[in-house]
Amino acid sequence: MDVLIIGSGGREYSIGLALAKDDNVEKIYFAPGNGATDALGENLSISDFSELADFVEKNGIALTIVGPEGPLVEGIVDVFEARGLTIFGPTAAAAQLEGSKIFMKNFLARHHVPTAKYIETDSLEAAYKFINTLEAPIVVKADGLCGGKGVIIAQSHDEAKKAAGEMLAGNSFGEAGTSIVVEEFLDGYELSVFAICDGKDYVVLPAAQDHKRLLNNDQGPNTGGMGAYAPTPLVNEEIYAKLDERVIKPTLKGMEEEGNPFKGVLFIGVMVVKGEPMILEYNVRFGDPECEELMPLLKSPASELFYKAATGDLKNAEIAFHDKYAVGVVMASKNYPYGSTPPAEIIVDEIYHEEVRENTHISYAGVSRGEDGKLYATGGRVLVCVGLGDSIKEAQQRAYMLVGQVHFAGKQCRTDIAYQAL
Ligand code: AMP
Ligand code: GLY
Repeated sequence: MDVLIIGSGGREYSIGLALAKDDNVEKIYFAPGNGATDALGENLSISDFSELADFVEKNGIALTIVGPEGPLVEGIVDVFEARGLTIFGPTAAAAQLEGSKIFMKNFLARHHVPTAKYIETDSLEAAYKFINTLEAPIVVKADGLCGGKGVIIAQSHDEAKKAAGEMLAGNSFGEAGTSIVVEEFLDGYELSVFAICDGKDYVVLPAAQDHKRLLNNDQGPNTGGMGAYAPTPLVNEEIYAKLDERVIKPTLKGMEEEGNPFKGVLFIGVMVVKGEPMILEYNVRFGDPECEELMPLLKSPASELFYKAATGDLKNAEIAFHDKYAVGVVMASKNYPYGSTPPAEIIVDEIYHEEVRENTHISYAGVSRGEDGKLYATGGRVLVCVGLGDSIKEAQQRAYMLVGQVHFAGKQCRTDIAYQAL
């Protein structure tokens, strides 16, 4: 089959890489793709959903996979499904699980899914009153999509009130912050859990841990993610079972009952507090950089997983994973996450070490192809060096050996990815 992938990041590159190795897949298209995805398939410069659907129809593309949340929240799945096209991702209504934190929190409450105590409000007075009932730190969140930046962890009551005031006045996040969620701080360790869903049935992928802060030891500002690894040994069978029974099943059932069956990736941001999984948030897409580690762990053909999920047929899928670990280290440009950086040529040394060559690869993200045919670092997060191994330690060592072979001016990366597991 031919497949179209919507998006341009390392996440979409890694899905493309998995499909490129899949015997069932002939041609891969990316819209818009990046400077490196053109080596895996063909980049399309179409963004209008109807025009994309025209292209898919005309070219007999059997499956479209949507990477980022933006087009999902804007309804790309609705447009494709109205035309009878097979697409992997939730409808706009179902994507509200990520598009609106208030929708998500109220949904969790309606279906008794464990989450932090909260209120949603557009009133500063109500926010102050609730803040006074909590102990610091206190979490204040803007309602809408803020690219992962709409969350303030206030260290004092005053700071929480100030954050709430600024969000509600529209100063911090504009329209996205005119309603807010205030919630208690959950103290535990964080996991990224992904369930591939077809509306009714689901497959849980190995649990991952992301590293959101820019600097080693989880210091510095929040980013989209500086690296991840999977599976994490911090999840045992008991936690997986609790996630199944208390989180994933009630969520899929609740979405179906409310008329929005959930198809696509349910990304569950989990905080494990004293052995109990609590839900921080849902996203309706793969995490980036988590996807870059999960795709290479997939043993079954990627097309089977995505196609069966998109067509409501997961109950007939047998999805297997390699008995291995993956560690991914993000290499970012100089000014990330504060601002843009002038393009810098990327040079990857030839890798002589066979073990490294065979157990590592790069997932390209913020890159473009120059007129000279060379690859340039142009984005915030430029690429992810992924290492595979029989242990986390081995996967980590291989990932960092690859990092040592990759050069561009101003590159920065954390040197402690997967430290929680070692
Ligand atoms: P969110 O966009 O809701 O996932 O929040 C971004 C990050 O803020 C999460 O990944 C957590 O690290 C942190 N966070 C959000 N809510 C809470 C909470 N209630 N308690 C502790 N940390 C939180
Ligand atoms: N890595 C976290 C995210 O994609 O939101």
